Amino acid sequence: MRHFLDLDAVAPGDLRAILDEAARRKAARRGRPKGAADDDAPLAGHALAMLFEKNSTRTRVSFDLAIRQLGGFPVLLSAAEAQISRGESIADTARVLSRMVDAMMFRANRHADLLELAQHATVPVINGLTDASHPCQIMADLMTLEEVQGPVAGRTIAWVGDGNNVCNSFIHAAPRLGFALRIGAPAGFKPPRALVAEAGGAVEVFDDPAEAVAGADAVCADTFVSMGDTNKAERMQALMPYQVNAGLMAKAAPGAVFLHCLPAHRDEEVSSDVIDGPQSHVFDEAENRLHAQKAILLWCFGLIGSTP
Ligand code: CP
Ligand code: NVA
Repeated sequence: MRHFLDLDAVAPGDLRAILDEAARRKAARRGRPKGAADDDAPLAGHALAMLFEKNSTRTRVSFDLAIRQLGGFPVLLSAAEAQISRGESIADTARVLSRMVDAMMFRANRHADLLELAQHATVPVINGLTDASHPCQIMADLMTLEEVQGPVAGRTIAWVGDGNNVCNSFIHAAPRLGFALRIGAPAGFKPPRALVAEAGGAVEVFDDPAEAVAGADAVCADTFVSMGDTNKAERMQALMPYQVNAGLMAKAAPGAVFLHCLPAHRDEEVSSDVIDGPQSHVFDEAENRLHAQKAILLWCFGLIGSTP
């Protein structure tokens, strides 16, 4: 049984297999109604529970459609309405859901709770975002870059702004998929030192956003205030100089792609002209959440990737 908890726990060859399967399935169903199943419906009869402790638009809808397109069906649980919010333990929740569904996706406030759910589950558990990481997002991001620029191996990706959960998953991916990640972030908002060190030479961290972006094939931004962050004023003051705008994009390679996991805050982390301009692929990126999710689900069930 495979859990999809973080990209550093997935074999590099399996990350490659997920990206390839996502692209293959996307191409194979072009033009179909979005609710129609893929021809092979490889997860027919399988149920996916989706448990949310935080808001979501993309993750919720993409997992819902992903399991349906694979032939299965979703079961949606808001943590606020489930017994978990009245004190039922995560361990018991994991045991109960494991008896009723074939896989679980959890968007958790605390990464430790995701790990606890996985520890007690007897079916695959997928990380749908925690305070520490967002691995599904990065698979969609890399898929999007490959659609535009070809293989991501050997490319340079810049991350500008908060060294947050999404950034952490980019750090996991860089050495495993062979791209360079250059992070521009202010003091107090840099990613964890140990995480950067684990990535070896694949990841570099800069104070100056222009240095991070210089010559990059892609520039990525995310909100300055993530779900659960309380220090909005301090964040805005420290991070506004890290806005991705036309001036900063001009320092990247010609034709560099702009990505943002969304939801976006125009004229905060990114200027409107950049996110709504020709270099932006943010809506391809959002759509690709669906295609990437399908490949992740197939990997969890051992249908793609190396033999578990
Ligand atoms: N990018 C992302 O995870 O979006 P949602 O919060 O809408 O799921
Ligand atoms: N860093 C953001 C990502 C949202 C998809 C957050 O955690 O709120």
